Amino acid sequence: MYTGLLHSHRSLAYLFLLSALTTVVLALVNRLQNKPTSKALNGLTIATLALGHLQLLMGLGLYFVGPWFGLLTENAGEVMRTAELRYFAVEHISINVVGIVLVTVGRSRFKKLEVDRRKQQAVIAYVGLGLLLIASRVPWDRLF
Ligand code: HEM
Repeated sequence: MYTGLLHSHRSLAYLFLLSALTTVVLALVNRLQNKPTSKALNGLTIATLALGHLQLLMGLGLYFVGPWFGLLTENAGEVMRTAELRYFAVEHISINVVGIVLVTVGRSRFKKLEVDRRKQQAVIAYVGLGLLLIASRVPWDRLF
C-alpha cells in the first residue's frame, strides 16, 4: 500500500507543479496585458486547488502509514540531527502544508474579489508564494 501511495504522490507532483506554474504565468500575463481575467484562469485555480488537496491527503497517508510520524515521536532528537530523516519527517510536510494553505487562500480570494486586476494579483501573490515554498521542499532528485 505504501509503495502504491508513494507512486501516486510522485505522479501527482508533476501535475500539481505544472498546473500551479501555468496558473501563476497566466495570471501574470493577464495582469501585464491589462486583460480581463480569462475563463482559463478560473479553471486553472480550481485544478491547482484540487491537485494540492489530493497531494495533501496522499501525503498525510504516507506520513502516518509510513515510518515518518513514528520516527519523529519515538526519537525526535535523532531525527532532528539527521538531515535525510528531518527532510521528510519535518520539513517536507510542514512547508508543503503552508504552501497548500496559500494556494487555497489564493483561490478563495480569486473567487471573492470582483475587480479583475485584484483577482489576478491575488493569484500571483498567494499561488506564486505557495508554489515557491513547495518547490523549495520537493525532492527533485526523486522526480527526475
Ligand atoms: C504539493 C505538495 C507536494 C509535492 C509536490 C510533493 C512531492 C513529493 C515527492 C516528489 C515525493 C517523492 C516521491 C518518491 O520518492 O517516489 C514525496 C514524498 C513524500 N511526501 Fe510529498 N509532496 C507534497 C506534499 C506533501 C504533504 C503535504 C505531505 C504530508 C502531509 C507529504 C508527505 C510525503 C511523504 C511522507 C513522502 C514519502 C517519503 C518516503 O517515504 O520516501 N507530501 N512528496
